[in-house]
Amino acid sequence: MDYKYLVEKAKEARGFAYAPYSKFRVGAALLTKSGKIYTGCNIENASFGLSICAERTAIFNAIIHGEKKLRALAVVAKSARPCGACRQVIIEFALKDAEVIFVDWQPLEKKEKITYTTAAKLLPKPFNPSQAGL
Ligand code: THU
Repeated sequence: MDYKYLVEKAKEARGFAYAPYSKFRVGAALLTKSGKIYTGCNIENASFGLSICAERTAIFNAIIHGEKKLRALAVVAKSARPCGACRQVIIEFALKDAEVIFVDWQPLEKKEKITYTTAAKLLPKPFNPSQAGL
């Protein structure tokens, strides 16, 4: 599956990014097991540590709509690579074999490079709640 529609939605979401400090705009769109799509963008704050990544706003957007099973997630940025914190949050909700699509996108230069991977590959040996007795 090439997830063209998901990528379009992530691009659209990037347009809503609030990134006045870093100027690094990120959009994300995820597909749930039930076939619904939820989007997110990065939202920064003058108190820099309060900023949140696009991947997490997309996931939290799905969660507040009662959708907890993530089948695929597309991330769009100049160089789109989920940070370590987001990888742990992705793993919490990812179905087995959930796909992650990085879209390195520079619209003005008309450059686009798509990389397909999986949530499991992005975070090998994750913190495992059942092993921790949670
Ligand atoms: N950011 C994301 O939204 N996703 C990532 O995967 C990496 C970084 C955001 C956080 C911050 O608003 C900006 O990009 C620069 O780090």
